[in-house]
Amino acid sequence: MGDVIKEEGAFYSKAEDYWKHVAPTVDGMLGGYGTISNVDINGSKKFLERYVGEEEGKTGCGVALDCGAGIGRITKRLLLPMFRTVDLVDVTQEFLDKAKTYLAEDAKRVENYFCVGLQDFKPLPGRYDVIWIQWVIGHLTDDHLVEFLRRCQGGLRPGGLIVIKDNVAFEGVIPDEVDSSVCRDLDLLKRIVQRAGLGIVREELQRDFPEEIYEVWMLALR
Ligand SMILES: C[S@@+](CC[C@H](N)C(=O)[O-])C[C@H]1O[C@@H](n2cnc3c(N)ncnc32)[C@H](O)[C@@H]1O
Repeated sequence: MGDVIKEEGAFYSKAEDYWKHVAPTVDGMLGGYGTISNVDINGSKKFLERYVGEEEGKTGCGVALDCGAGIGRITKRLLLPMFRTVDLVDVTQEFLDKAKTYLAEDAKRVENYFCVGLQDFKPLPGRYDVIWIQWVIGHLTDDHLVEFLRRCQGGLRPGGLIVIKDNVAFEGVIPDEVDSSVCRDLDLLKRIVQRAGLGIVREELQRDFPEEIYEVWMLALR
């Protein structure tokens, strides 16, 4: 990927600048595809429900972390209904500010709003049952993503789970100059996961998304 990202500092600052100018709405979070949010959340719910529950041997319902959370679209509809407490992390302060009103009454069950890039974020060791990472990994370099996933592993409670849900390219690495991100193919993503020392518990393609967008895959890791 070294030949795709020319200058690391500019790769991150351009992305930060891009998101500062995006409306703090569901449509803004989804690049104008706000209408797919329901299908997205329902697919995620089905995927996660297999693992999370109060029963012995399942991933607990205590604390979840929403990475690249934006205004809290996923926190509101997926994580707060399933977990007692949720933390949000995002590089854009305006989105986290919006989350406080967007999440309404349930905002009181959000313990932390961390405003920091995932490349610098250090989850508290052993805090999370689930770490959800959706539509943000393309903003990290390969090496930073590997290191971030390693720190996430350290942030899990026993039985905890990391989920990546993201766009997947047909082949190779496709750069996006507009939001300063990359889209990796599934093989590359799996190699990154392996480098981080994580195993794949389940992989699933999100169904019923518009045909013109990238395939979106969910990977459960631990
Ligand atoms: C496509 S939006 C997705 C938001 C949310 N995950 C969702 O699905 O509704 C990408 C989000 O990633 C955030 N972001 C971009 N680069 C980031 C970075 N390096 N670290 C943390 N968040 C980042 C943006 O501020 C934005 O909120």
